Amino acid sequence: MAKWLNDALFYEIYPQSFNDTNADGIGDIPGIIEKLDYIKDLGCNALWLNPCFLSPFMDAGYDVQDYYTVAPRYGTNEDLKQLFEQAHARDMHVLLDLVPGHTSVYHKWFLESMKQEKNQFSDRYIWTNTVWEYPENMGCLTGISERDGSVALNFFSAQPALNYGFYKITKPWQQPMDAPGPKATLEEMKNIMRFWLKMGCDGFRVDMAGSLVKQDEESKGIIALWQNVRAFLDEEFPEAAMISEWGEPDKSLQGGFHMDFLLHFGPSHYNDLFRCDYPYFSKEGKGDISAFVQKYLENYEKSEKKGLICIPSGNHDMDRLARRLSQEEMKIAFAFLLSMPGAPFIYYGDEIGMRYVENLVSVEGGYNRTGSRSPMQWDDGVNAGFSTAPAEKLYIRQDESKDRPTVQGQMADETSLFHEIKKLIQVRKAHPALWNKGEINFVYAEENAYPFAYVRTNHPEDAEEKILVVLNPSEKDTCFESALSLKEVIYSYGSPAYTHNGKIIVPACSVSFIKL
Ligand code: NOJ
Repeated sequence: MAKWLNDALFYEIYPQSFNDTNADGIGDIPGIIEKLDYIKDLGCNALWLNPCFLSPFMDAGYDVQDYYTVAPRYGTNEDLKQLFEQAHARDMHVLLDLVPGHTSVYHKWFLESMKQEKNQFSDRYIWTNTVWEYPENMGCLTGISERDGSVALNFFSAQPALNYGFYKITKPWQQPMDAPGPKATLEEMKNIMRFWLKMGCDGFRVDMAGSLVKQDEESKGIIALWQNVRAFLDEEFPEAAMISEWGEPDKSLQGGFHMDFLLHFGPSHYNDLFRCDYPYFSKEGKGDISAFVQKYLENYEKSEKKGLICIPSGNHDMDRLARRLSQEEMKIAFAFLLSMPGAPFIYYGDEIGMRYVENLVSVEGGYNRTGSRSPMQWDDGVNAGFSTAPAEKLYIRQDESKDRPTVQGQMADETSLFHEIKKLIQVRKAHPALWNKGEINFVYAEENAYPFAYVRTNHPEDAEEKILVVLNPSEKDTCFESALSLKEVIYSYGSPAYTHNGKIIVPACSVSFIKL
């Protein structure tokens, strides 16, 4: 694994909404370059960029029309190369978003594959033999092509599924993974990776990484597919980093991914933390952390106790943290996010507590996600410093409230969320026990109870250290029995925890990181 991943702290950029330098109302790559120093100053040393390739943007760019070309609204391939270079000059790294599961309906492969006459792209997608037959358990497009057949979908209707084959074949039109069509699809995906890695990109966040092989109940086919990709990378780009959107680290790590994301859907209980009726990190104190911890532990055990499960602050698919939590509550939430194993991922704007913008009309297939994708709020200038375009031209309407948080405002206020996050990042960086690969042991995570406590221990390759993390998001003082002997408080927010008669007393709304 690339060494930089060990201490990587990611910042996710939704390019549309980050920084517009050509006044067209949409963010661009020169705008990202302009803000690299800001990101570095925050403490992040790596970026994940949502797809920035040519696309009709029916799913915000996750519907790729040409994998080899930067969408003109963001700039040129040369601009992206510049971004890699400028990032590297600052000792930062960049992951692109690889979308291997589907393309846009406007991709030339798809246009070719719709033709009646057999050609090199006929098997690039999953087609049934007649228009009257639909693929099972998948959506499909039917009656849109001169070719007689229905084509399987991977996500929205404008995203037909690329053909990597079926693990179990039950119909004549289903092809095995080693048939020429599926093999050619995979080879083309490798070409795409090769193209960007050669240009200087450091690796990929892989969209829906577990979805490529169909009828693959135990995921044997898809694991083998990704092992094949890893073998190619090991040969040609051994330093390339791979992080999956999969949500099953045991499988994705077997497939050769370095890290996997904890997902906000499926069984992870991630939403119990910040995004449910009674979030654990709300000061109301009605949340429950236990189911999350149980699921986390299952994954942790299955992934050989490696700290390789990334817990994002949010992303372009889920509600902003601030939709349920106040700035003060978010400080405690970030103390959690920045003290867990796995690389932290901060979604742009979460560092200032940007709000979810309510009641927006869907933009580019965003639907309820649109409110989490509004343009960054830099300062008190026009369009909060995001763009000099007329407000109505902005990609998405901004948070228009008078007290909307801005980077400038939060930088000027020593007590802001921004400063607390910066401080937390510095503490994480200074303490090996808190690094990405360090261990975790939960010491107090009871059902419907507060506080929440765990011990982080350094990875064997790093300096020895043990740190107890105690979080009490609730507005009530709490305590738990513990024989741990506390040495030095290395970070606290609110009043620090302390021992008394065999108990650790944890004041309301507090965080303590204590050396053991
Ligand atoms: C997951 C991406 O994060 C999401 O934004 C997208 O809509 C789907 N995959 C489909 O690519």
